[in-house]
Amino acid sequence: MKNILLLGSGGRECALAWKLSQSSLCGKFYIAPGNAGTSAYGINLPISYNDFEGIRKACIEHKIDILFPGPEDPLVAGIYDFCKNDPLLKHIVVVGPSKEGAQLEGSKAYSKKFMERHKIPTAAYKEFNLDSFERGVAYIKRSEPPIVIKADGLAAGKGVVIAQNTIDAVKAFRAMVMNEQFGEASKKVVIEQFLDGIELSVFAFTDGTNYVLLPEAKDYKRIGEGDTGPNTGGMGAISPVPFADDTFMQKVKDRIIEPTVKGLKDEGIIYNGFIFFGLIKVKDEPYVIEYNCRMGDPETEVVIPRLENDLVELILKMQEGKINEVTVQHSPKAAGAVMMVSEGYPGDYPKGRVMHGFEKVKGSLLFHAGTTVKDNNVVTNGGRVIAITSYGDNVKQAIAKSYENAEHIEYEGRYYRKDIGFEF
Ligand code: AMP
Ligand code: GLY
Repeated sequence: MKNILLLGSGGRECALAWKLSQSSLCGKFYIAPGNAGTSAYGINLPISYNDFEGIRKACIEHKIDILFPGPEDPLVAGIYDFCKNDPLLKHIVVVGPSKEGAQLEGSKAYSKKFMERHKIPTAAYKEFNLDSFERGVAYIKRSEPPIVIKADGLAAGKGVVIAQNTIDAVKAFRAMVMNEQFGEASKKVVIEQFLDGIELSVFAFTDGTNYVLLPEAKDYKRIGEGDTGPNTGGMGAISPVPFADDTFMQKVKDRIIEPTVKGLKDEGIIYNGFIFFGLIKVKDEPYVIEYNCRMGDPETEVVIPRLENDLVELILKMQEGKINEVTVQHSPKAAGAVMMVSEGYPGDYPKGRVMHGFEKVKGSLLFHAGTTVKDNNVVTNGGRVIAITSYGDNVKQAIAKSYENAEHIEYEGRYYRKDIGFEF
């Protein structure tokens, strides 16, 4: 039996908590800080996922064997190295890469250079900063719009601008490097070619040498129906992805996943955990839009329900360097998740709205995201509030069930997109 500490407080962590707690290998189970949903599966600890000292104390006090960071922040900040350099924590299995490995997500310039070195297909790009501002402007002027401008560092999904013309591109570039729009994160900027295609998310779980593939997913990033309006963390997800057929997935493995895992190993970068490949299919060819060093949210809310293996067993096989001994079983059923959000999201939104109707939900899984308990009520506590996931014989059927149950969850100012998965 293994004692587990899961870090995070979103829908992703609620789905992971649901799954981890089902394992016969799961001993005592804690979530820091968790939400109103995760407390059904383990004990919530009031510790921020960025509070390394707090996490250290909790690991020692609760005799933690497995530390599982859900979000990227603690990984990019080096929680893996923090544990491995501490005599009292170094035995702990950390599900995630070293600080260096997490740079695949933490720095766009780092990940572009990595892809260049390993000939992994991605958009053509150049990197600029304040010193090379004039050259950056000249590069923009030579480029064919649309032009993609990306802050180098973590910017909570807001650091990417797709400019439709040169003037807007220069404006975005200036705001990032001259005005430090995203602070430290936009001191460096990647300017890249726009790829016109359809996106999907692919997840590998690696022990540093071998990998297994989890079910793939597609998320819906824009706030508005028909993919309109500003980007959000994700408004829903489906799995499997109908256009990710065997031929396409073979190209993804050969050209992207294998060179990535091999590249990390050859360069001596410690990476034990998830690699999330944000891909785009252009005509029939896959390209990498971005790497993430963790699972996706809301993709996890459909991927994990379709994973039939014991997740703790997978983690232990990873630790032994024997992930290749595992046969990953994907459920033949489709899964669809609808994310219910607060009015105003992804801008400012209210918190503390009392939620009702949970008991009326039948035949779906509820993964809490931004919720908490106040005066014995479950109340909203974030932009993304709750994910409703359902299974079906196909994506349409799964999503239809989630919509049926979404009607039952009530709170003031609730909003959700009504077109998740409708193109399939
Ligand atoms: P990223 O943070 O790099 O994943 O970018 C956020 C979103 O911007 C992606 O999910 C895409 O929808 C879009 N995007 C980023 N880079 C490109 C690109 N080179 N071509 C087209 N769309 C892009
Ligand atoms: N849903 C996209 C992400 O988790 O980054």
